[in-house]
Amino acid sequence: MSLFKTVTPKEISDNPFKLIGDDWALVTCGTPEKFNTMTVSWGGVGIMWGKPVVHTFIRPQRYTFEFTEKNEYFSMCFFDEAHRDALKLCGSKSGRDCDKVKETGLTPAFTENGVPYFEEARLVLICKKMYSQFLSEESITDSQSVDKWYNGDYHKMYISEIVSVLTK
Ligand SMILES: Cc1cc2nc3c(=O)[nH]c(=O)nc-3n(C[C@H](O)[C@H](O)[C@H](O)COP(=O)(O)O)c2cc1C
Repeated sequence: MSLFKTVTPKEISDNPFKLIGDDWALVTCGTPEKFNTMTVSWGGVGIMWGKPVVHTFIRPQRYTFEFTEKNEYFSMCFFDEAHRDALKLCGSKSGRDCDKVKETGLTPAFTENGVPYFEEARLVLICKKMYSQFLSEESITDSQSVDKWYNGDYHKMYISEIVSVLTK
């Protein structure tokens, strides 16, 4: 039996700066047969086109990128501090080279339409892509950030509707 209950985005009481910037998240995307997960700590939540959304930024060299390009849905999972090591692993190794589920011991779960997430999460956002676009050098007005963060590998930004929120 699932320990999760469904709430609305407005019922999430976490501070988003801490939630994304400090706690970090796992972006997990694919199908029950084949999925991948990676750690993110950049992004945001808000409203777009009248809908609750997440903004996610994924570099094209990530294995996860292949999945976010091919699939309409993904999840963002947030965890207690006890799972920090799992997030460190998912943010330093690639699913191309290892089985992150095996190495972290996390337990995959799937929504009715097959979107992967993890049982150990304390908060799960099920997200449906609405818009995606690569960041570009000419659009970045803060040139210091170009020098500091990029070597031609501009993130792709995804704006995705939060279609469901699971919490414990
Ligand atoms: C704390 C932390 C935050 C990260 N945030 C992002 C991010 O927002 N976007 C991104 O593209 N990579 C980010 N990464 C890097 C990826 O998680 C990392 O490259 C990962 O190994 C990619 O795995 P994959 O190749 O299996 O997709 C972050 C890594 C860490 C440790």
